[in-house]
Amino acid sequence: MTPLKWCVPGVSTCTTRRVGAIWTASTTWLTWVTATRTWSRPAHGKWGSSTPTRASSTTTWCCTLRGCRPRCPAASPSSTLSTLVTALSDPHALLNSRSEANDLALRLARQYSGSQDIVTLDNAYHGHVTSLIEISPYKFHHKPNASHPPFVHVAPSPDVYRGKYRRDHPDAAKAYADEVRDIIRQVQSKGSKVAAFIAESLQSCGGQVVPPAGYFQRVAEHVRQAGGLFIADEVQVGFGRVGAHFWAFQLQGDDFVPDIVTMGKPIGNGHPMSCVVTSREVAQAFATSGMEYFNTFGGNPVSCAIGLAVLDVIAKEDLQGRALRVGGYLTSLLEKLKEKHPLIGDIRGRGLFVGVELVRDRTQLTPATAEANEVICRLKEQLVLLSADGPHRNVLKFKPPMCFSAEDADFVVGKLDAILTEIEAATGLKSASIKNGENNVRKTMAELDKHTPCHLSDLACRGVELS
Ligand SMILES: Cc1ncc(COP(=O)(O)O)c(C=O)c1O
Repeated sequence: MTPLKWCVPGVSTCTTRRVGAIWTASTTWLTWVTATRTWSRPAHGKWGSSTPTRASSTTTWCCTLRGCRPRCPAASPSSTLSTLVTALSDPHALLNSRSEANDLALRLARQYSGSQDIVTLDNAYHGHVTSLIEISPYKFHHKPNASHPPFVHVAPSPDVYRGKYRRDHPDAAKAYADEVRDIIRQVQSKGSKVAAFIAESLQSCGGQVVPPAGYFQRVAEHVRQAGGLFIADEVQVGFGRVGAHFWAFQLQGDDFVPDIVTMGKPIGNGHPMSCVVTSREVAQAFATSGMEYFNTFGGNPVSCAIGLAVLDVIAKEDLQGRALRVGGYLTSLLEKLKEKHPLIGDIRGRGLFVGVELVRDRTQLTPATAEANEVICRLKEQLVLLSADGPHRNVLKFKPPMCFSAEDADFVVGKLDAILTEIEAATGLKSASIKNGENNVRKTMAELDKHTPCHLSDLACRGVELS
């Protein structure tokens, strides 16, 4: 695991700068050490207190080289668990969602900068609460007038396949970052100021977009110069999924560190919990607001124990290494498929986060939306759950559980191969006759276009992990 680069308030030793603090919610510092050498005992702090208070005497911490675990002497783990599971099965447990994390990130940035304005990326999705729908074009584009508040500014998605600047551009990272700079200038020209730029480290609902390396550094420079912060949403892509790194923002290079990172889905492996990580400076700016952050279930011992167990499994089973190896293998199989199938326009991604963009025409990039829907429905019939996403819902989204194996990759790519073969034969995209496939062809192109969507793609971004 690659360590985070933050030192945190109240941590007694931070010599190696290898201590990351996960602010699970209001009252608990859960310290997470990814280094092999140093553990530091965390202090407990509250949002709103400028000097974190010491751990209370009722809580002891068991620290090993791998991590610190809170122990609750008042109750055995099982009774603590049974008490809190009931509480967590209550709908209020949903408060510990990734939307909460992003909403808190916005509050932090707004408090820090003293401004409201947010720059978000086109096609982005950051959560289901009002403050996040406002900054999620993936959602508000579907409103009848596609409106968003005047303090929200949409920058082009840094998509080098279909976006404004493509792979043939001499410096797409700079070109996309300059778009953000121009937005910041426009905001300033109206006498306002940008509080934050927010982006997923790799866009997921937005179509498995991998921003060109160097883009985040340049954006961060523009945003910070303007007094704002860079928020990296790692809700879908964090925790080793990208293989080469534990965090997807690290793909941009060692010289990039966001100001705020939000974490979610994989953190609890299905358990509802989320995190916000930030710098001391930003946390202190929030603390001075005088408005304490309160969250009833945030940071409860059960969630913390689950979070720590997940980290243990990621380390013990080398899931990050697995994502690198199996993801690389999956991508190589898909690349071979691309040579065979004209429907496949682009393969992109990292580790076990891969997108396959389907197009009817590799030159025009006409989105093969109906075909993508057909693929996911046909796969579903064969018990393989995949989703189609992106603005045109034509990007097959591979985001399997981290235990995904090379055999699983062979299996799903084999199925995909057969389905694409049939669709291409049916639509005439491939003139060559397909062995054993002709009798199985189910739909003509016209029928595909009329096909009732099976709604899988929508489910994927509504919190149902399909792939
Ligand atoms: C990137 C991203 N951020 C935030 C969220 C919101 O998560 P939740 O639905 O748990 O609030 C999601 C959910 O899909 C997401 O994909």
